[in-house]
Amino acid sequence: MTTTESSPAIVGMPRIGDPAPPFTAVTTQGSINFPADYAGKWVIFFSHPADFTPVCTSEFITFASMQQQFAAYNTMLVGLSVDGLYSHIAWLRTIKEKISFRGMHDVEVTFPLIEDVSMEVARKYGMIMPGEDSTKAVRAVFVIDPEGKIRAVIYYPLSLGRNFDELLRVVKALQTADHFHVATPADWRPGDRVTVPPAGSCGTAKERMDGHAEGIECEDWFFCTKEISADQIESAIRVGGHPRVG
Ligand code: BEZ
Repeated sequence: MTTTESSPAIVGMPRIGDPAPPFTAVTTQGSINFPADYAGKWVIFFSHPADFTPVCTSEFITFASMQQQFAAYNTMLVGLSVDGLYSHIAWLRTIKEKISFRGMHDVEVTFPLIEDVSMEVARKYGMIMPGEDSTKAVRAVFVIDPEGKIRAVIYYPLSLGRNFDELLRVVKALQTADHFHVATPADWRPGDRVTVPPAGSCGTAKERMDGHAEGIECEDWFFCTKEISADQIESAIRVGGHPRVG
């Protein structure tokens, strides 16, 4: 396919529900075979535009500082940029030795950062958006489940640093939905009411509206919620099943 400025190459991207496209790659933590090496774990696979840039640096410090919080929900981090391995190593060393961000300092990035100079992986995942920049990846996030299926896709432009609390919320919400067979409404956080699947029959709709469905409250027959406490959620989805303290 040829690419011109007026008609950039249209590159596909994996969609929610698709299997994560497989690849092998060199990373700052050795070679990986993705997603096979992460079978049984959730993964946040994300791209950043370039090493030695300020927004990316703030993101890496934040991600690395939250790595244990993600691990507590069986979620591993894997980063990618189209820079080379030695640039990655030098940048991560500089971050640890010199950079502070919002009180975080001396931060060691121990999750793998993929080198992708050929852009092969970035193209496979639709991380290059030529209208934004044809030589850098945008800030893409793929949330991949333990079966290697893509469960959420979030994209940010080059100038906008990601919201990492939101990424953790997405992981918890997906795991809660899977475990309890519910859905999570707008701005949901653990402990907020969840929505239950719509009534599948007139009988169920009537039962719910008559207030006979135990633990379920309805605004209307199609909009019903129930309580799942934050402790129940933590016990179900947190590694080791212990409720969070504090
Ligand atoms: C940054 O990380 O600061 C950045 C990277 C690429 C373009 C613009 C900003």
